[in-house]
Amino acid sequence: MDDVKVFAPNTISNVGCGYDVLGFPLEGLGDEVHVSKRNDSGLRIKEILGADLPLNSEKNVATIAIQALLKSLGEDGGFDVSITKSISPGSGLGSSACSSVAAVYAVNELMGRPFTKSELIEFAMEGERASSGAAHADNVAPSMLGGFTVVRSYDPLDVFQIPFPEELLAVVIFPNLEVRTEFAKKILPKKISLEDGVQQWGNMAGLISGLMGNDMRRIGKSMMDSVAEPVRKVLIPHYDKVKDAAMTAGAIGFNISGSGPTTFALSDDMNLAKNIRSACREVYQRNGIEVFSLISKINPEGAHVI
Ligand code: HSE
Repeated sequence: MDDVKVFAPNTISNVGCGYDVLGFPLEGLGDEVHVSKRNDSGLRIKEILGADLPLNSEKNVATIAIQALLKSLGEDGGFDVSITKSISPGSGLGSSACSSVAAVYAVNELMGRPFTKSELIEFAMEGERASSGAAHADNVAPSMLGGFTVVRSYDPLDVFQIPFPEELLAVVIFPNLEVRTEFAKKILPKKISLEDGVQQWGNMAGLISGLMGNDMRRIGKSMMDSVAEPVRKVLIPHYDKVKDAAMTAGAIGFNISGSGPTTFALSDDMNLAKNIRSACREVYQRNGIEVFSLISKINPEGAHVI
């Protein structure tokens, strides 16, 4: 095989209480990366569609991730890379992660699959390090593996999938603004109080239990965040109003997607999900802010060849 095209989905990470730990991918929204072998060495980005990003292979997250993979094999390319992005970076929907994931998945295919999907996560994390200053895995892991993923440990990396209710729907609301993850990480407290810790790990356990036991009430009660949401919500215009609108319209829970400005609500009913979406959109429309929205199930598949 000399040529391959891979799709990797956008993701919702943190999911309330799981900062840098929890995430799940969306259906029908993600990046496509087309990689072809060349006879010489090096990486070349031929084109990027859908976002204004550097063609310099030393600055682009996709080629930085490929470089990490090649380095571990002692190889030096050569590959041509073309990227079609679904959504710009700074959305809170794991935009850099899905480019990095699709890129390393594609090169792994072209090299005869030296790595498993799980092993590819660490290379894709290098793209995250380059884009946000932190090699977090809560977007790359779900984009790569599919399903609801947990990063149990970073050192050593230990990632696994947990069962989730198939009927769960995410209502995704993206106001057309940019929040840089690097900045959204810097403003978080370096330390949290024992009281906040107790709340957070109680909610983490509750959320995992709710997901594994199909208990929507428990999922909703546990989708709280004492660490990032209180600090980051000020970066998202009308956050409290949008959250109120979603909860009043019947959302199971509501929170920030990744580092924002995208927010999301969960529901287990398509009609309710549509009402939640309209209620959230209305808040933004009243305030003259354009939004992109969608309703998606949790994507069980993750990255794949197309
Ligand atoms: N877990 C990361 C953060 C996700 O919240 O900073 C970034 O999208």
